[in-house]
Amino acid sequence: MSPNSPSADSSFVTSSGSPTQSTAWLALQDLRDEIGSVTLRELFAQDPGRAERFSLEAVDLYADLSKNLITQDVIEALVDLAEHARLPDKIAAMFGGERINSTENRSVLHTALRKPKGQQLIVEGEDVVAPIHRVLDQMAEFANRVRSGDWVGATGKPIRHVVNIGIGGSDLGPLMAYRALASFHQEGLECHYVSNVDPAQLLETVKPLNPEETLFIVASKTFTTLETLSNARSARTWLVEGLGGDLSVVAKHFVALSTNTDEVEAFGIDTANMFEFWDWVGGRYSVDSAIGLSVMIAIGPENFAQMLDGFHRMDEHFRTAPLANNLPVLLGLIGIWYRNFFDYPTHAVLPYVQALDRFPAYLQQLDMESNGKRVRLDGTPVDYETGPIIWGEPGTNGQHAFYQLIHQGSTVVPVDLIGIIDPAEDVGGQHDYLMANLFAQAEALAFGKSTEEVAAAGASPELVPHRTFTGDRPSNLLLAQSLTPSLVGQLVALYEHKVFTQGVIWGINSFDQWGVELGKELANSIIPELQARTEPELDHDSSTNALIRRYRNSRSRS
Ligand code: F6P
Repeated sequence: MSPNSPSADSSFVTSSGSPTQSTAWLALQDLRDEIGSVTLRELFAQDPGRAERFSLEAVDLYADLSKNLITQDVIEALVDLAEHARLPDKIAAMFGGERINSTENRSVLHTALRKPKGQQLIVEGEDVVAPIHRVLDQMAEFANRVRSGDWVGATGKPIRHVVNIGIGGSDLGPLMAYRALASFHQEGLECHYVSNVDPAQLLETVKPLNPEETLFIVASKTFTTLETLSNARSARTWLVEGLGGDLSVVAKHFVALSTNTDEVEAFGIDTANMFEFWDWVGGRYSVDSAIGLSVMIAIGPENFAQMLDGFHRMDEHFRTAPLANNLPVLLGLIGIWYRNFFDYPTHAVLPYVQALDRFPAYLQQLDMESNGKRVRLDGTPVDYETGPIIWGEPGTNGQHAFYQLIHQGSTVVPVDLIGIIDPAEDVGGQHDYLMANLFAQAEALAFGKSTEEVAAAGASPELVPHRTFTGDRPSNLLLAQSLTPSLVGQLVALYEHKVFTQGVIWGINSFDQWGVELGKELANSIIPELQARTEPELDHDSSTNALIRRYRNSRSRS
């Protein structure tokens, strides 16, 4: 079957109809009306056990969901909605390797990437787990050689700098995990990440580096991505020029992570130095595949294995826990509650953990590339909202920037707050300040400060409305003991499965990304027009034509 023909197994595609037609959806609409007349202050006052009732532990994460605009009835109706969408069957279909990515006719098997060695998963007659561990072993051997100094560059020097060249899922995941696990890095070995086709990023990155001690990892699932291949070619030129002009040096300084052996060979990288993965690993779901090689080099194969174990433990929680006690499911359903019944358009992820500074950016791709869809699996347009806009920055920085809007703006922004109990390092008791701010934000958002309280605190009457906080601004608070490799795996898997849950309810394909294609196509047609020696004939719209002419005529380089 050709990659673009519809899937043989269409049960995933045609299932339960529009969610808006379900009785659960109608019940949720009624509950939305009811909850509009009650505040979080009242809900907490009515139920002294609320914090406990709406908190749960999943693997090593403690999640306090009590500061959401939810009641037991809301949770039950949301779970009904998930059952109406046959979420348990869909979870089984994904884990079992059914071709649920119907528009690309592919299985979606990132969960297999973290299955323990020795387990099997037979998909269409073949075990997928053994090849995964073959590649993991190959990665571990290579990572150990780089870490020990046994792998040397063309002039015999050990590697001190690793530059991962990739974009999207081939950049955001490894970059996020590398930064998250800074306290596990091997000293004297630094990783850098280059993604943008803007040459400034590559040039800036390599400027202080010695080519003799630099290893480039070209990370691209397809090995055809303009940004990555352009940066890889420029990096190759920099390396070869820096090491005397002989192309043979590439073998010791370039490795590839890809599914595309032919293109890797065509680029000039020895396929012995290629670490493969498979078309059933989506780019944004690939940090735990060979795409994580830079992370493995930085933290070592044992810690990388711990990360995979964290992923796997969260997978098992998602696969086996009842829907009402299933953390990814609950996060997904609560997100649906706000997106579809409150019309809240965005969702912020605010880690109170500096090491997770790239986690929101990572989640932007994971969530928005997965669920930013306007048609259902069967191609019909949705008549309800789908994926929210995901954004965020680490606390407390955001508090001094955009939290004003979160507390008092006219748009309500549901937030995820993430905190770690034991930091890798502390100084001057600052970690307590950080955590005090985390807890305070959740409290302030939920309960606000009423007009009466503001007035009683002595505010002048004209300032009272300005200083009032309405409260009822929802948050999920995730707390964990320490930021270990396992926890990073758990967090990523948690959000992967949250996104899956929402995609199932919305009946969309969370695993394709056709929306990125048009811009790529048009850019490919404009590149020769910018580079033509003679004035090209342009047949874009008048605005695009004028911009291209202006650029050609105004640039100072020839
Ligand atoms: O443009 C979107 C995208 O296809 C992402 O889904 C992917 O993560 C990224 O580009 C990079 O793709 P590749 O790894 O094939 O270079």
